[in-house]
Amino acid sequence: MARDTKPVVIGDHEVWLVRKLASADSRIWIAEVGGEPVGQVRLDRHGEAAEIDYSVAAGRRREGWGIAILDALTARHALGLATAYGEVRSENEASARAFLKAGFAETVGSEVPAGYRRFEKTLQHG
Ligand SMILES: CC(C)(COP(=O)(O)OP(=O)(O)OC[C@H]1O[C@@H](n2cnc3c(N)ncnc32)[C@H](O)[C@@H]1OP(=O)(O)O)[C@@H](O)C(=O)NCCC(=O)NCCS
Repeated sequence: MARDTKPVVIGDHEVWLVRKLASADSRIWIAEVGGEPVGQVRLDRHGEAAEIDYSVAAGRRREGWGIAILDALTARHALGLATAYGEVRSENEASARAFLKAGFAETVGSEVPAGYRRFEKTLQHG
């Protein structure tokens, strides 16, 4: 469901991860349940808003963790930005439902890329 659907090469991924972890324009959290990782969420600064990338471990899907991860973001200091958004492939029903359940509103308009739906929310800071 990522924009780039090519297989991930581990060496390239490690370089990417080191760069992301060092970047002032990104934050990554691991979601844990009972000490076990169940998912990840990343915020990347794009102009005045933070773009969300998130996923739940394949064996832990449909248990509500996707919604819980998006909910948790509203209580986080999200790169000092007031809004967060996610762009979801049109066929990704699970992600669209999770965004809506977590209180995001669907954006309509020319800024939504073809083949995607866009969901946006104002974040609380603190
Ligand atoms: C999208 C994703 C994070 C959702 O996480 P999840 O923990 O499975 O979702 P939840 O259990 O919180 O459920 C969210 C909603 O989607 C629905 N849902 C979950 N899986 C679904 C599926 N395969 N098809 C249709 N609806 C689905 C749930 O029923 C729920 O909706 P409801 O409360 O109205 O019934 C997960 O499917 C995933 O990691 N997918 C691959 C990566 C991805 O797509 N990331 C998002 C990119 S924008």
